[in-house]
Amino acid sequence: MVAGLSMPQKATPPKYFYDERGSALFEEICATPEYYVTRTETALLRSRAPQIAATIESGAVLVEFGSGASEKTRLILDAAPQVGAYVPIDISPDALQQAAARIARDYPSLRVLPVTVDFTRAVALPSPVGHAPRVGFFPGSTIGNFTPPEAVQLLRTVRSLLGPGGSLIIGVDMVKDSATLVTAYDDAAGVTARFNKNLLARINRELSGDFDLDAFDHRAIWNAPLQRIEMHLVSRIDQLVHVAGRGFAFKAGERLHTESSHKFTVESFGLLAGSAGWAIDQHWLSPEPHVAVFRLVAPD
Ligand code: TRP
Repeated sequence: MVAGLSMPQKATPPKYFYDERGSALFEEICATPEYYVTRTETALLRSRAPQIAATIESGAVLVEFGSGASEKTRLILDAAPQVGAYVPIDISPDALQQAAARIARDYPSLRVLPVTVDFTRAVALPSPVGHAPRVGFFPGSTIGNFTPPEAVQLLRTVRSLLGPGGSLIIGVDMVKDSATLVTAYDDAAGVTARFNKNLLARINRELSGDFDLDAFDHRAIWNAPLQRIEMHLVSRIDQLVHVAGRGFAFKAGERLHTESSHKFTVESFGLLAGSAGWAIDQHWLSPEPHVAVFRLVAPD
């Protein structure tokens, strides 16, 4: 955190967004009329569930990365009764245990084996998983929140976790007109602005910061060369902020870069996946605004 604030272009690590209030605000973002990603991907998964399910072998283990409330998983599980076990992986233990218990209750013949871990670290699957074929599930275009080198690294980690013959069902938001993209990350009701500024509240609380939330404006920018939406907090005034006993000067108009959300084409996603040893087997595209679900396979 201090390192990010010390860089010429100030930046913060995105995982700090997801404290309790941040997670609640993110749920609210998903319900705004402008943020199409969740709703469109859910509709796509629902309509394509039979085709997705047809790719899953009998007895397969479904491994979900960042499973949260496991809501989208149900769309797959409902269509794929042949899944033998479900391994939800999430960093937040309480939410994970609750979601896993609800899944176990609603799918009594499914083995549910939750793992509490930051899924960007190499994790071992619980031993009962054995040698059953492994299918990864990574919805929400979360892959887009990593830089391309980080995304490649993560996709490699996922590939080795899923092993030879593994496959990955992954949701990805697609490049589209900048107005649709920018408003999705800057809704009229200001929910995304509150989500972004909540990061400052968390820094104040956990790192003895003194950010004045009213002295920053939320801004979403489409970075066309890098094909990503950037979220920034723009300092309204010249000010000195303290975090963890250190002072950080902001000029009026200076930006703190808090998150990026990379957008893809089928081609650019194929290149990214290819750099991590994956190949696109199939993909399904929603009606506009386009989001996609890819089925990746590991050739070796
Ligand atoms: N991965 C999704 C996206 O980039 C969800 C998300 C992550 C998000 N951080 C966000 C949405 C910040 C809105 C604002 O779209």
